Amino acid sequence: MCGIIGVTGGSEVVDILLDGLARLEYRGYDSAGVAMQVDGKLWRARAATGTRSLDDLRKVVESAPAAPIGGIGHTRWATHGHPTERNAHPHLDCTGGVAVVHNGIVENCRELTAALERSGHVMTSDTDTEVIAHLVEEELAGGAGLAAAVRSALGRLRGSFALGVVSAAEPGTIVAARRVSPLVVAIADGPGGEALLASDIPAILGRTRTFWTLDDDQVVVLQPGALSVTDLHGAPVEPAVLHVDWDLEAAEKGGHDDFMSKEMGEQPRAVQDTLRGRALPDGTLSLDELRIDAAALRQVDKVFIVACGSSFHAGLVAKYAIERWLRLPAEIDIASEFRYRDPVLDRRTLVVGVSQSGETVDTLQAMRHAAAEGARVLVISNVVDSSMARDADGVLYTRAGPEIGVAATKTHLAQIAALEILALYLSQVHGSLPAAEIAAVLQSLQAVPGLVAETLQRDDQVAAVAARFTEVRDFFFLGRHVGSPVAMEGALKLKEIAYVRAEAYPAGELKHGPIALIEPGTVVVAVATRNRLWEKMLSNVAEVRSRGATVVLVANDGDEDTAAMADHVLWVPPVPELLSPLVDVVPLQQFAYHLARAHGFDVDRPRNLAKTVTVE
Ligand code: AGP
Repeated sequence: MCGIIGVTGGSEVVDILLDGLARLEYRGYDSAGVAMQVDGKLWRARAATGTRSLDDLRKVVESAPAAPIGGIGHTRWATHGHPTERNAHPHLDCTGGVAVVHNGIVENCRELTAALERSGHVMTSDTDTEVIAHLVEEELAGGAGLAAAVRSALGRLRGSFALGVVSAAEPGTIVAARRVSPLVVAIADGPGGEALLASDIPAILGRTRTFWTLDDDQVVVLQPGALSVTDLHGAPVEPAVLHVDWDLEAAEKGGHDDFMSKEMGEQPRAVQDTLRGRALPDGTLSLDELRIDAAALRQVDKVFIVACGSSFHAGLVAKYAIERWLRLPAEIDIASEFRYRDPVLDRRTLVVGVSQSGETVDTLQAMRHAAAEGARVLVISNVVDSSMARDADGVLYTRAGPEIGVAATKTHLAQIAALEILALYLSQVHGSLPAAEIAAVLQSLQAVPGLVAETLQRDDQVAAVAARFTEVRDFFFLGRHVGSPVAMEGALKLKEIAYVRAEAYPAGELKHGPIALIEPGTVVVAVATRNRLWEKMLSNVAEVRSRGATVVLVANDGDEDTAAMADHVLWVPPVPELLSPLVDVVPLQQFAYHLARAHGFDVDRPRNLAKTVTVE
């Protein structure tokens, strides 16, 4: 996710822009840029040197023409196009008189680009954002003022956006708008009376504590000392006012105590953004970005997934989906084992690496080994242009935004969503699943972000259950079918942030040994939502109960038969079986989180762990 800053008025435009961008640095970024209004023109500077971008941008801006009266700035976390200067924001129209910064995704970017190019516009980046500058240019050429031009342009966009637009023709004015992606505006305290714009409160927190928060499809015009908000038709609206008394550190965490809880809260967005523009409203899938064409994908006769940790668990879920929908064999391996066991691969094998960072050396080497053996290699990565993304034949990005907490949460859900999209796309290409069934699954997938949000709201109930187990040092996690990787992920979360032993088993395996460890008081957490093995799952639960285990069950809302088998229930809404991990894992993340917090552990930086593991 990117960061936006904007200011008009006062004499500190450069400082406000650069300091604001620096305050957004904690979110992670790969490039940065500003566009400032000077002498009736726009002056733009950009840098794409990774985490040095802001320093490099600052050096360029030192040579800026004096006394800008306003400007917009951006830190970019690449989603469309490589993290290069050409793709860094702000983006300009053909005349250089309109500049745009944007967070979010323009879903109909391809069709808009084609239409704009037919009318003679020349694109100079690979981003979806640039179309907005050209759409505004067209409206301005038709005689509209900037605010009206932005409103009309927005009417042609599908997707999500928070954006800021400046025009050389209207010095001292910024027009901003939002749909889905957050945006706040404010008037600075003090004599400057600057009008301020930001995607995140920390960017401008030092200037005021009172903000206006925009709702979807609201447009705001910023002028020195003045803000006015309208809807998309230009009718005035009263914005919501937010008074913030957090300090900067709390503000970076969006008012949460830590990044992990903030990032768990961002899971609905992460899933929604990952589906956006790929799961189409007509019930089909479009993955043109994949870089491997449909003809090559049709040759695939086996899928192999390689990954580590939480990414491996996401891959396990995908194995079920691929085998069910695509009807091809799907194997999965822990990446660090894969290449040492001499797997059988050929040109018809599709090897899918799954990695949040795209840098995990075990997965990277596994993918390189697969490529050397002649397999086609595709990666699911959250980081654009990561080593894996550069190496692979194809790439499908998750769009979870930067994840700062070491424990994978929102990237894990985004990976499952991306893998399921990939499985459905392969099924569409192979014709292995009727179009109506693909459409039905996509419809259910679209409902998942809402169901994840609903589940997150039950945090207090999970906290109350977790509070009963603060003294327990050993847990068993059980699941069957897709509940099994959910159990594994729940156990991993507990190990890595709460430092307690947690063993996960497919529940059917229990009787082959581990059940010997069950004795009165042993705590068993089981995923007992209604998948095809639910009855068998309950039999396994009965086995541990009869040996005195204390049982915590993840169960579907209203399922009293399941609740009757439990000492404590973590309720979740029902979701179609193959999509259920996207929801069922959420209370297990929360459970681990609350246990870790109860012990006073740093959930964002657990001991002995690194966010990106670059050693074998
Ligand atoms: C999970 O919470 C982890 N921190 C860890 O297991 C992680 O998923 C693993 O190291 C893989 O990382 P990657 O997705 O960046 O490749």
